[in-house]
Amino acid sequence: MLVLGIESSCDETSVAIVEDGHRVINELTHSQVATHQVYGGVVPEIAAREHALHIDHLIWTCLENANLKWSDINRIAVVNGPGLVSSLLVGINAAKTLSWALNIELVSINHLKAHICANNLSKSPSDFLQESFTCLLASGGHTQILQVNDYQNMQILGQTIDDSAGEAFDKVARMLNLPYPGGPHIENLAKTGNKKAFNLPRAKVGEFEFSFSGLKTAVLRLIEKIGLANLNKADLAASFQEAVCHELADKLIKAALKNNCFNIVIAGGVSANQRLRELISEKANELNIQQKVKIQAPLLNYCTDNGAMVAAAGYLCPENFGLGFGVYSRSKKL
Ligand code: KG4
Ligand code: ZN
Repeated sequence: MLVLGIESSCDETSVAIVEDGHRVINELTHSQVATHQVYGGVVPEIAAREHALHIDHLIWTCLENANLKWSDINRIAVVNGPGLVSSLLVGINAAKTLSWALNIELVSINHLKAHICANNLSKSPSDFLQESFTCLLASGGHTQILQVNDYQNMQILGQTIDDSAGEAFDKVARMLNLPYPGGPHIENLAKTGNKKAFNLPRAKVGEFEFSFSGLKTAVLRLIEKIGLANLNKADLAASFQEAVCHELADKLIKAALKNNCFNIVIAGGVSANQRLRELISEKANELNIQQKVKIQAPLLNYCTDNGAMVAAAGYLCPENFGLGFGVYSRSKKL
């Protein structure tokens, strides 16, 4: 089955054609990072306008690159939330128009489920997701631990009570004068730093909850006290990264154990972080369960927002478009 996936929930306009939920035939992304970098974060109104400027061209070029005709496409999948409303509307309207005009089935996709389904992209069948699993979803907008028994039955075991992990990376990067989005820049800088240089606080919250605002403030106070010019930025980046990733890895493994679930999955932009991946394995080793657990992560280029993950979800866990409408197509009464 060939699915066209459309993602426009934040600052990436991305479209892809994916076969059977894993084989990426073609993917095209227009990143708005350069546009928003000067503001240190995404400006919703500007984001929506850029999506509108690029989406048509990306969709048609993707089909052309794949050497396919519209009649080859079996389904269109579009993210309908969560995300910036004005940005989501651009993708949804493009998808609805194509579905109506070409009479192709349209399904809606939850952005978070799409991140999880990114785990199947460009993988061989033995590495496909297998329900049930315990999942850490850590992105710019969300940080939660989920128990996924099946895609319609996902239980939130715990989540952040303030900032998401990605947001914490972005805000601390800004304090260190690093570009947006901060995660990859902090990770890069941390490679030459000492992760034990600064003893940063860990939040005391519920068993599987997270809180990163205190950690963020602690970094700010340190910078105010010592001064950015006198600080070893690499040490601070490494210590901060260690504090965030330790929390994420520790709670993920504990949640999986509590659920007696040995399939562990990570997803979302922060899942690209190598130290996070290492720490999850280290925690499993510490608890002597490394032989039993299977830890899965998306390929690096599918961790952050992309159209292919939407198409993968469109194959694995499509949802009817809108309340009571069922599949949105010309044959339905709207
Ligand atoms: O999933 P995503 O692309 O967008 C949302 O759905 O929010 O995640 C973007 C977030 C940003 O906050 C970015 O700084 C973070 O993921 N990120 C990382 C890394 N790559 C991206 N955080 C830590 N380490 C990374 N390598
Ligand atoms: Zn995302």
